[in-house]
This record gives sequence, structure tokens and C-alpha cells, in this order.
Amino acid sequence: MQIRLLKHEESPPYPLLLLADPSEEIVQNYLQRGTCYIGYNQKEKVMGVYVLLPTRPHTIEIVNLAVDKSIQGKGYGKQLLIHAIQIAKQQDYRTVEIGTANSSLSQLALYQKVGFRITSIDTNFFLKHYKQPIYENGIQAVDMLRLTKDLAGKT
Ligand code: COA
Repeated sequence: MQIRLLKHEESPPYPLLLLADPSEEIVQNYLQRGTCYIGYNQKEKVMGVYVLLPTRPHTIEIVNLAVDKSIQGKGYGKQLLIHAIQIAKQQDYRTVEIGTANSSLSQLALYQKVGFRITSIDTNFFLKHYKQPIYENGIQAVDMLRLTKDLAGKT
């Protein structure tokens, strides 16, 4: 998969973005505030996406990370994450954050495998911000786990 910045004249890959977050309103808000990167295959078909969102001084968050269902589990999510971390380093951010639900078990595994640590829990996040209940792995998404990767001093 090749990865590049989404050009201004291109429309964002909404079906993929909504795979990571079912709220169109939240996706739209992230796109306005952040920078969208796309992963594409040899036929130039968009197969992956993430948005980098500056949040606080020196801190950037990876949101809307998603890989097309047909190619999940083949390492592309990890490739997108590593790319996002590299971009954050190039832009001199000190901390990268990513959030996921208490029910997102494989995402929690992946994020920890690339060096993120669970640093806080936003309790009841999904109850407050989403109208419909979300279930994954037979577990209701209730709390947002926030994970952090410290970039300071690493090249
Ligand atoms: N226990 C241990 N490791 C697990 C695991 C588990 N239960 N489930 C997954 N993993 C690991 C895999 O072993 C793999 O690690 P490895 O490369 O060291 O073997 C890694 O997690 C999966 O990596 P990858 O194949 O790169 O993931 P992917 O291409 O499927 O992308 C997502 C991951 C989350 C982006 C993708 O599944 C997706 O788009 N999901 C829907 C949208 C979404 O949930 N986005 C995240 C919002 S928070």
C-alpha cells in the first residue's frame, strides 16, 4: 500500500472513514480540523485512511484509522499507523494519541504492538456522544480508552 496526503480537490473516502466511526457528524468535524491521508493500491483504489488531528500543544491524535474490509488483517493498519507516527515526528510533535473503545479488542492489541500505552479512560464517552448503542465482540462500547505514544528523543 502506498500512502499519501488527500488532495484538496479530492473527495474524502467516506465509506472507509465511517468504518472507523459511525457518526457522520464526528467524521466531518475531524476532516475539517485535521489532515487526511489515504492508502491506495496499485490500481490507485483507496484501501486505507487516517486523519491526523492536532489537539493540544505538541500533541496530535490519529483518528478515523480504517482499512478496507477485504484486506484487513494483512498488516496495512499497522503500516498506516507507522506512517502516521512518522509524519507526527517529522512535524515535531512530542506525543501521538489514539483512542478506542473498551470493546475494540483487536484495535487495542494493534495499538499496543506499535508502542502505544493506555494513559487514560474517558468514562461513558460512547454513551454521551453516540445516539445508537455500539457492540463489538459481544461487549458494549461504553468507555473511550486513550492511548499515548511519546515521540520525544526518538528518531
Ligand atoms: N490479540 C493479539 N493481537 C491481535 C489481536 C488479538 N486479539 N487482534 C489483532 N491483533 C494484531 C494482529 O496480530 C496484528 O499484529 P501483528 O502484525 O503484530 O501480527 C495486528 O493486530 C493487526 O494489524 P493489521 O493487519 O495491520 O490490521 P488491519 O489492517 O486489519 O487494520 C484496523 C486494523 C483497526 C484499522 C482495521 O481492522 C479496521 O479498519 N477496522 C475497522 C475500523 C476501526 O475499527 N478503526 C479503528 C477505530 S479506533
